[in-house]
Formats: sequence, structure tokens, C-alpha cells
Amino acid sequence: MSRSLATTEPFSTTGAPTDQSMDLDLPSALDPIRLPAHVAVIMDGNGRWARQRGLPRVLGHREGVQSLKRTLRLCSDWGIGALTAYAFSTENWNRPGEEVSFLMTLFERVLAREIDGLDRERVRIRFLGDLHQLPPGLQELIAEATARTATNDGIHFNVCTNYGGRRELVQAARRLAEQVARGELDPAAIDEEAFAAGLHTAGESDPDLLIRTSGEFRISNFLLWQLAYAELHITDVLWPDFDEAALLAALLDYQGRRRRFGGVDPSR
Ligand code: FPP
Repeated sequence: MSRSLATTEPFSTTGAPTDQSMDLDLPSALDPIRLPAHVAVIMDGNGRWARQRGLPRVLGHREGVQSLKRTLRLCSDWGIGALTAYAFSTENWNRPGEEVSFLMTLFERVLAREIDGLDRERVRIRFLGDLHQLPPGLQELIAEATARTATNDGIHFNVCTNYGGRRELVQAARRLAEQVARGELDPAAIDEEAFAAGLHTAGESDPDLLIRTSGEFRISNFLLWQLAYAELHITDVLWPDFDEAALLAALLDYQGRRRRFGGVDPSR
């Protein structure tokens, strides 16, 4: 990953790059002070990519891992503070059993193979979702990787695995209700901050930009709370083909937007 991103300072959450990012080979078309601090991605189109080549769907997932590694490296090198990827949804269990097993084994192999490199590059990796339903071997690797990289000061890499936005919201509501029932919490004290603290993403800034590949105009139960003010970039590129040019196009699209957060744009 980047030669210079292993800073001792935490990444800025304001979208402004750290001083070190000035050293990075950021494409000149990008404005370094208006980069998203947090990019989320729905990695769609692996199956179609494979089918177009007459290959089994699962080989599209294998190629998708390369695409994810490339995207993480670029985000880190360009000074983006966090990348959150949708790897497996709570609905993905409905896929054919063979594909689900392939994905679980793929996650295990990739994690076992990549953890040393990720740690060396100071990446902080977390897996967001209902992890207890994953195969025990994968759960162990996840726990190990999370603990090992927890204090790393590089890019935050969040892998949403057995993740569902509605389930996350329901769980957060239930936790608050339980605290109220135990007399530990006054319902009047429940505000957006208290609610967000019960989500898998607690402590992370909300994504500024959501990228969805393969041309579908859907959120698909991803980060329903956190994407409230995200800018959306939908591209026809299939996930395994998502490369530097495609990421640059997404970031340029983002930099062309005027973010109002429900207010008015004073320049218009
Ligand atoms: C959907 O394509 C994509 C997925 C189910 C994601 C698979 C996960 C990875 C590539 C990353 C794994 C990462 C780590 C860190 C372990 P699709 O099958 O829905 O494509 P289609 O719409 O063309 O059928």
C-alpha cells in the first residue's frame, strides 16, 4: 500500500487529507482537499463478469477479491480514511449452497493470506455484521485479524459480512429498549448519537460516497442509517473490472457534487 500512509496521527474525518497525503501520487484531476473521508462500495457484478467469459460464477468472486485489494490500495495511497465493502449480506445465504460455501472458504483463505500484509501496511480491519453465524474457523480468523490491527493508524477497512441494514437497526433499537427496561436509560435521552452508538459502525464517520458497480440503482439493505447523506455513484463497470480509472471517475463525480445536507447552497 502507500509508502507514506503509516502516520502516527489518526486519519482526518473531515475529508481534508493529512499532511502526508500531499506526498502521494494523487491523480492531478483530483482536489486533495475535497476527497471523501469514507467510501462505501457495493461490489456487484462478479457473477455476470464470470458468465461473460463462460466461467463459473465463483471465479467472478475470486477476481472480485483482486479488485477489492486494488481499491483498498488506491484509497489508502490517495489518503481516503475509510473503505467499507459489502462482502456478504444477510440475504446472500439464499444463494446456492455451493456458492455460499465457496464464499466462506474464500473469505477464510483471503484473510489468512493477506493479514500479514494488511497489518504491515497499518490497515485497521473490522468485520461488520452478525459474525456468530459464520463458520467457526472464519470467526476465529476475524477475531485474530481485528485484535491484531485494532491500533493500526492506517486506512480503516470495514468488511460487511452477514450484514443487513434493517437487522442492524432492529438490534440497535432492541439494545436501547433493554437499557430502558432495566432502568438504565431515560427514553428522552435517546438521540441520533445514542442510536448510532449501537450500530456496527459505531465510532466510524458516515460514508461520504457510495459506489455501486454493475449498473443497479439499489441500496440493497446496505448501511441504511449511515448512507443518509452519502453521494451515490452508480457505474456500469462490473466489480472485477473496477480499476483505477473507475475509482477516479467515481471520485471526480463526487467532487462535482454540491453537498447541502438538507440546507441551501449559498452559491445558487
Ligand atoms: C456480488 O456479485 C458480490 C459479492 C457477493 C461479493 C463477494 C466478495 C468479495 C469479492 C470480497 C471478499 C473480501 C474479503 C476481504 C474476504 P454477484 O454475485 O451478485 O454478481 P451478479 O450480480 O453479476 O450475479
